[in-house]
Amino acid sequence: MTRRSIGIVMNGVTGRMGYRQHLVRSILAIREQGGLALADGTVLWPEPILVGRNEAKLRAIAERHALTEWSTDLAAALARHDVQVYFDAQVTSERVQGIEAAIAAGRHVYTEKPLAEELAEALRLARLAEEAGVRHGIVQDKLFLPGLRKLRRLVEGGFFGRILSVRGEFGYWVFEGDWQQAQRPSWNYRAEDGGGVILDMFAHWRYVLDEIIAPVRSVQCLGAVHIPERVDEDGKPYDCTADDAAYGIFELEGGIVAQINSSWATRVFRDELVEFQVDGTEGSAVAGLRRCRVQHRATTPKPVWNPDLPATEDFRAQWQEVPDNADFGNGFRVQWEAFLRHVAEDGPFPWDFYAGARGVQLAELGLRSWREGRRLDVPELAR
Ligand SMILES: NC(=O)c1ccc[n+]([C@@H]2O[C@H](COP(=O)([O-])OP(=O)(O)OC[C@H]3O[C@@H](n4cnc5c(N)ncnc54)[C@H](O)[C@@H]3O)[C@@H](O)[C@H]2O)c1
Repeated sequence: MTRRSIGIVMNGVTGRMGYRQHLVRSILAIREQGGLALADGTVLWPEPILVGRNEAKLRAIAERHALTEWSTDLAAALARHDVQVYFDAQVTSERVQGIEAAIAAGRHVYTEKPLAEELAEALRLARLAEEAGVRHGIVQDKLFLPGLRKLRRLVEGGFFGRILSVRGEFGYWVFEGDWQQAQRPSWNYRAEDGGGVILDMFAHWRYVLDEIIAPVRSVQCLGAVHIPERVDEDGKPYDCTADDAAYGIFELEGGIVAQINSSWATRVFRDELVEFQVDGTEGSAVAGLRRCRVQHRATTPKPVWNPDLPATEDFRAQWQEVPDNADFGNGFRVQWEAFLRHVAEDGPFPWDFYAGARGVQLAELGLRSWREGRRLDVPELAR
């Protein structure tokens, strides 16, 4: 069996996503299983080159995982003849310049979302990548979550009849950083650093709605900065300039109404950190990260409103668990494998930079809708 190496510059591996999901759970996991078997019998062997700003942190990660290649010089890393792919998991505000440099160096590009902070920039990157003839892809991990894969299976199987509405709840309490350390980096709460829950989460909701339910046609969004001051990684108080909650209403093709709350200032009384309830004429489902439960028309009870009596029914017990019936694997890794196949053997990969741009478009329109206090159409993007 022949083994073919593929050099991947991984920028931002000292961060939460870059390290855990992309380096450890994806690229190193692929190496641990012996590489990626291609259709022609060749085994593709990813060779990560770690890139970042902090030499000590990069060296520590490299040593921990017996890797030898790391650099604080992005241009030099991109110029290496053994590099084919650039991957970006930096803070959002640094993304455009990293990707631009990679495209200029002729490398294929794969990136965390959001692709950019503004739609015009996202589209510019998409066109640059096309003109350069490089492959381009964006992380759309929620599509690969077991709960949402089961939901998609239900939609494709016609379980719902006519879908009427979707109600999504995403969020949890992010500590302010004073008496307990915050569990998200402080840049998330500063608009000038690419923060904000709208930019962060609408990039996800776009592909979740478009691909699993129906294309998004309009958005109405009310954002909020509920916590005006937080304490950063160095214990210094700072002003929050970015939204930490967003209350969105989306109209989808076919008249489906989706409402999604996204908040870092809410406490969880749910089974999972994100849950979507989909109601249809034939049945309903509640899907989370891992679980998906259904209630069919035929098993729907008939509750009667009577506030004088305590509830006698256990409503949650009236739902049925959808079985996995498959091994879903880590979503980030599944998508990495698809991107590597796209580069190495022309495998299909629908989640290109234009898909990334659609995510940025929804975030941009959401922010504008909030600012202007009105509902906005979501036009098709020209390629
Ligand atoms: N797909 C998902 O579910 C998901 C989840 C969380 C975050 N993300 C995205 O991943 C990216 C990284 O998020 P994260 O939570 O890992 O952030 P993080 O703060 O933990 O990591 C950011 C990385 O960028 C680097 N960096 C480069 N320039 C920087 C600068 N000027 N200031 C600060 N850091 C700089 C840091 O060193 C670090 O390696 C963001 O674009 C975010 O939107 C995606």
